[in-house]
Amino acid sequence: MNKKNLIVANWKMNLKTNDGVKLVQHVLDNGYDSDVIEVVICPSFLSLEAINRTVTKSPISVGAQNIFWIAGEGPYTGEVSSYLISGVCDYVIIGHSERRTILNEDDVLINKKVVSAIENDIVPIICVGETETNTSESDVKSMIFEQIAYAYDGISDEDAINTVIAYEPSWAIGTGNNNDSEVINRVCLECIRGGLNELYDSRVSNLVRTIYGGSVTGSIVSEIVQQEFVDGVLVGGASLSPDGFLEILRNSY
Ligand code: 13P
Repeated sequence: MNKKNLIVANWKMNLKTNDGVKLVQHVLDNGYDSDVIEVVICPSFLSLEAINRTVTKSPISVGAQNIFWIAGEGPYTGEVSSYLISGVCDYVIIGHSERRTILNEDDVLINKKVVSAIENDIVPIICVGETETNTSESDVKSMIFEQIAYAYDGISDEDAINTVIAYEPSWAIGTGNNNDSEVINRVCLECIRGGLNELYDSRVSNLVRTIYGGSVTGSIVSEIVQQEFVDGVLVGGASLSPDGFLEILRNSY
């Protein structure tokens, strides 16, 4: 298999800047095979510049965990736009289930954020997935089809190609209950590529990378990324430990 897996660390509201820099330095000092995986670190806004300096001249990229829906500058107290992070970030996570549920982000807002990211040449990592365990696969499919239809509203073929979709069932996040790797593969194929195929031709849906998130650890990552339609993982808790994250990187191919 010659796909290059994408490994995204979502640090959420963790790690002060010094601790984050030490973690990334540990990964750089100990190494992983950057020819076969691409690594993106998503720290808090506060640490973006320091992490960006730490990874200069390395193959690691930096991503934000969120952006405001207006792309430029303006009187929006407390918000950070795609324009402000451009030059520092290559990626941004959009529509994470924690933001959907805790901050009431809906699909219309998520679409505006996707448009805003693309406007400033930042690759959106769009999170989709069901909330309840034991949701039937047909319900998962209709939920994801709807999330994708909203997220990509107004997005051209060429812009859609340069996006990432993360399948993150919220019941699997932070619980230790990762989804079964064959189910993940089926969701990536039937629900995510299938959802994209409703909007674009197969050239687009074949090129959009589809990754999985939810209780990924070093011991299970290899089974997940070996699945044909899974192009990587989005890691929360296990990306906060220097050795735990390194183990994920070394087992991701
Ligand atoms: P955990 O890896 O802690 O389950 O978190 C997954 C996640 O939400 C990544 O965005």
